[in-house]
Amino acid sequence: MKMVTVLLPFLLELSSSWPCIFSTDISNIASKHDQLLTHRRMKRNWMWNQFLVLEEQEIKEPLYIGQLRSDLDNNDGSFKYILSGEGARTIFTIDANTGAIYLLKKLDREEKSSYTLRARVINGLTGVPVEAESEFIIKIQDINDNEPKFIEEPYFVRVPEMSPEGTFVMQVTAIDKDDPSYGNSARLIYSMLQGQPHFSIEPKSGIIRVASQMDREAKDQYFIIIQAKDMVGSEGGLSTTTTVTISLSDVNDNLPKFQQSIYDMSVMETILVGEIVGTVIADDRDIGINAEMIYYIEEKGDFSMFDIITDHITQEGIITLRKSIDYESKRRYTIQVKAVNKNIDERFIKRGIIEDTAVIRINVEDVDEPPVFTQSEYYMAVFENASIGSYIDSVTAKDPDITSDLVRYGIQQTYPRYFDVDSQNGSIAIIKPLDRETTQWHNITIIATETKNPAQVSKVPVYIHILDVNDHSPEFAQKDDIYVCEQSKIGEPIQTISAIDKDDQAFGLYFTYSSVPEETNNANFTVRDNKDNTATILTATDGFSYQDNSLFYLIVIISDNGTPSLSSSNTLTISVCNCGANGNIESCKSQGFLSSLGLDGGALIAISIGVFLLLVLSVLVFLRQRKKHDTLLEKGEDFRQNFVTYDDEGGGEEDTESFDIIGLRNKPVMREPKCNRKIKRDIPSLYRMSLRLGPDVAVFREFLAEKLEEANTDVNALPLDSLHIYTFEGTGSMAGSLSSIESMCSDIERYI
Ligand SMILES: *[C@@H]1O[C@H](CO)[C@@H](O)[C@H](O)[C@H]1NC(C)=O
Ligand SMILES: *[C@@H]1O[C@H](CO)[C@@H](O)[C@H](O)[C@H]1NC(C)=O
Ligand SMILES: *[C@@H]1O[C@H](CO)[C@@H](O)[C@H](O)[C@H]1NC(C)=O
Ligand SMILES: *[C@@H]1O[C@H](CO)[C@@H](O)[C@H](O)[C@H]1NC(C)=O
Repeated sequence: MKMVTVLLPFLLELSSSWPCIFSTDISNIASKHDQLLTHRRMKRNWMWNQFLVLEEQEIKEPLYIGQLRSDLDNNDGSFKYILSGEGARTIFTIDANTGAIYLLKKLDREEKSSYTLRARVINGLTGVPVEAESEFIIKIQDINDNEPKFIEEPYFVRVPEMSPEGTFVMQVTAIDKDDPSYGNSARLIYSMLQGQPHFSIEPKSGIIRVASQMDREAKDQYFIIIQAKDMVGSEGGLSTTTTVTISLSDVNDNLPKFQQSIYDMSVMETILVGEIVGTVIADDRDIGINAEMIYYIEEKGDFSMFDIITDHITQEGIITLRKSIDYESKRRYTIQVKAVNKNIDERFIKRGIIEDTAVIRINVEDVDEPPVFTQSEYYMAVFENASIGSYIDSVTAKDPDITSDLVRYGIQQTYPRYFDVDSQNGSIAIIKPLDRETTQWHNITIIATETKNPAQVSKVPVYIHILDVNDHSPEFAQKDDIYVCEQSKIGEPIQTISAIDKDDQAFGLYFTYSSVPEETNNANFTVRDNKDNTATILTATDGFSYQDNSLFYLIVIISDNGTPSLSSSNTLTISVCNCGANGNIESCKSQGFLSSLGLDGGALIAISIGVFLLLVLSVLVFLRQRKKHDTLLEKGEDFRQNFVTYDDEGGGEEDTESFDIIGLRNKPVMREPKCNRKIKRDIPSLYRMSLRLGPDVAVFREFLAEKLEEANTDVNALPLDSLHIYTFEGTGSMAGSLSSIESMCSDIERYI
């Protein structure tokens, strides 16, 4: 650093009115002087308008930093130097006489790197400017007073494990506030203090790279220390350090590995298909999706018996049963299970191996099982005419266990029982006659029980189909009587008939109709089989007259097509009627058609007979009814309840016709009055009097009057609107009253 004295040319003008002029027209004056002294500027060899001052100097006394001087100044002290602008008088000062500039304070380039100041020179006596004002700059010169600083620290970065050498990790940057344009104070060099040999840093750029492959499974985080030093890293430079935390992210560089190479599992033979046999688990040193795996069963050995499913949460392999197992047929299964990662990273497949294998041995354990029927259900069929005791079919059940136990059979109770099962051999026999027309199916349940362990029980449904036998003859479908018109001609169809059969019609029942051979039947009608399960009755003669012969009986034989065929003879009653011109019946001899005809004499008689029959029937019913009552008495039951419902109290002892008094004698209703009040004393006495005296109106009226009086005065009586009146009961009855007059007391008692 050099101290430079700047000589500034100043024009000196002596003027007494300086302040006034200066203040009013200073620019004018200045330019005038300028013009005047143009030629004099030539004298100046150089002109500095810049001072250099070192920053960070400790100032104990004003530090001389430069000199202003007018070449007109002849050092007689008449000139005065004045400083103005940035930091004038606070940071910089000037010796007014000599023009020497001093620094008053420590400066920091990083705060302000230059100051612009102005200087004037005036005549000390007149105050007139000697020279024009001039501007100059004081520049602060840098020293290395700032250390580098890392931006954005602390640093965290993730880099995949197993990254190859030279993989870019990150770039760190430090800045130095010192002047980058001057010296080396701001020229930085990066170095790694900690972190080798895994990482390296480029000295100039600060780029961190992988220096050697790392395995996350060994160490998943590194702390490295980076230094930045200015002065191009040379001795004496300022430095700073920072930490970079480098985490390794996972890649799938590990295979799953079963915890055991052989697993032994045992399972009950009763396990159901789909149930869990056991679980296996393979470990994977990777994490997250790189540790996700899939299990499968290798298509070897007993693979078809089992399934494996992967639990994607626990990463377990769950082995389930695919087909049912049986201790008695196979006791040990072996399968091979493989575990493979879901997300395979091709880079890390070594020797083509991508999975791990484990052997699973499954032992089946014996369970005491109930008997097993040879079929899950049995269908049997038997003809309905099968005789009692006949064998239908057998069921068979066996104990599936190794120590096969004997099995006993039974029938689950139903009522009525038609079948029995032999407890030893399971043969089913009939014990009750069957009828298909009543029950077509008998669905029963057979039970099999182990003899040594009766708790081991199995059931099986047995469906017994009762097969049809042609055991029902055909019969007429309708029982209507038919008629023939007197006017009918030979060969005229008079009625079509059909038949039904209760037997199974499923296989196309087919009826044939015929009349009995000529000698027994009459020749007046013929039966024509229509071959469609119907037949038509035709006239074989003409000249029917209901006067002569009003009724004909025609025997029709109907046969079915069963094996053997069944037939029946059925009689048709044919009435002869007088028909109108249009074929409508007008009159018949027989009763069957009365309803459709007007009422003639015969009909009236018939109706009378009907009415008479009805009457006889009613009488019979009535007598029957009476007999019922008698039997009630004979049984000696408590018939009092029935008695009180009788409206007719009879005419006393003499009246034996309308009422059987014997019953009363056998079991008289003599309930003891229990009533303790006054009423008890009076009522029976009056009542007895009434019995003695007979239907004397006066006495009875008195009785009623007393009753009324009694009721009005009795404070204990119920406030009823009506008084119960007990009518006179006749005299001389041995049985006493049938009414509830005496029980009234107890009734009242009950109410109170
Ligand atoms: C049952 O009926 C069939 C056919 O109708 C017959 O063959 C068989 O003999 C009959 N059985 C008995 C026991 O009556
Ligand atoms: C079953 O046993 C009973 C009685 O011992 C015997 O009558 C029957 O014929 C047997 N049935 C069969 C199918 O063996
Ligand atoms: C019995 O079983 C048969 C055949 O399964 C069925 O058609 C019938 O409806 C059953 N009868 C009863 C009463 O359950
Ligand atoms: C056929 O009808 C005539 C006259 O109606 C009668 O005399 C005769 O007995 C009838 N024949 C038979 C077999 O009933």
